[in-house]
Amino acid sequence: MPAQAQSARKTVKDVAAAKAGTPLVCLTAYTAPMAAMLDEVCDVLLVGDSVGMVVHGLPTTVGVTLEMMILHGQAVMRASKRAFVVVDMPFGSYEASLEQAFMNASRIMKETGCQAVKIEAGEYAAATVRHLVDRGIPVMAHVGLRPQATNVDGGFKAKGRTEKERSKVNTEALAADQAGCFAMVIEGVAEDLAAMITAQVSCPTIGIGASAKCDGQILVTDDLLGMFDWTPRFVRRYADLRGEIGRAVEGYAKDVRARAFPGEKETYVLKKAP
Ligand code: KIV
Repeated sequence: MPAQAQSARKTVKDVAAAKAGTPLVCLTAYTAPMAAMLDEVCDVLLVGDSVGMVVHGLPTTVGVTLEMMILHGQAVMRASKRAFVVVDMPFGSYEASLEQAFMNASRIMKETGCQAVKIEAGEYAAATVRHLVDRGIPVMAHVGLRPQATNVDGGFKAKGRTEKERSKVNTEALAADQAGCFAMVIEGVAEDLAAMITAQVSCPTIGIGASAKCDGQILVTDDLLGMFDWTPRFVRRYADLRGEIGRAVEGYAKDVRARAFPGEKETYVLKKAP
């Protein structure tokens, strides 16, 4: 058996174990340096299509392409060795047909080496989840607030606040679970709905803006690091990197303008002849 078959990476079984045990620690990663830093601590790294907004300055995730996801997926896989890595299927890469979904999901798996893909799962998507899982592709579902559907919803709005919507999100979650997803992100829903779904589904639920009643938590890493001046209410900022970076760059600019950088220590000089 070749050595690479003895991977130290977490598997779907490790993720599934969270249903009964310690909450899953999940974060987004899009680049190699960040993946290397998060790998030791996180159970799951998600190469989320939020990369379009966080890294590429897009207004929503709708403009993200398969090529972008593959490129960022490759970077994260290269720099991590422990965490379970999931890559998002971007808008337009899985909705047209089961064949389209398999073709693009298998491309993501082959070209990045990731362990699973994630799809945003309206009720119609249960067939896609089953089709991919039957063909060897583990699928994480994403229910509740679905960022790829914000054009239909009229913005990034919390879900399940009316009885009708609550029942719709619950139905979508149960359908994805029955179709065989190994885990499920629940985004932007009230605590009681997250608790109700978590109690009913067999797979672990991973909350983002969905309370502590889920089997794990995920955040956009740049949000928790304080990289933006605005973050959604459900984010807790654990650092102020935006402030840190601003102070560092101001210090550099001041030193350059005062000819205080580079100094002697940062300057090459001619070697003295022996
Ligand atoms: O794209 C993403 O980062 C996500 C998380 C917010 C769950 O889907």
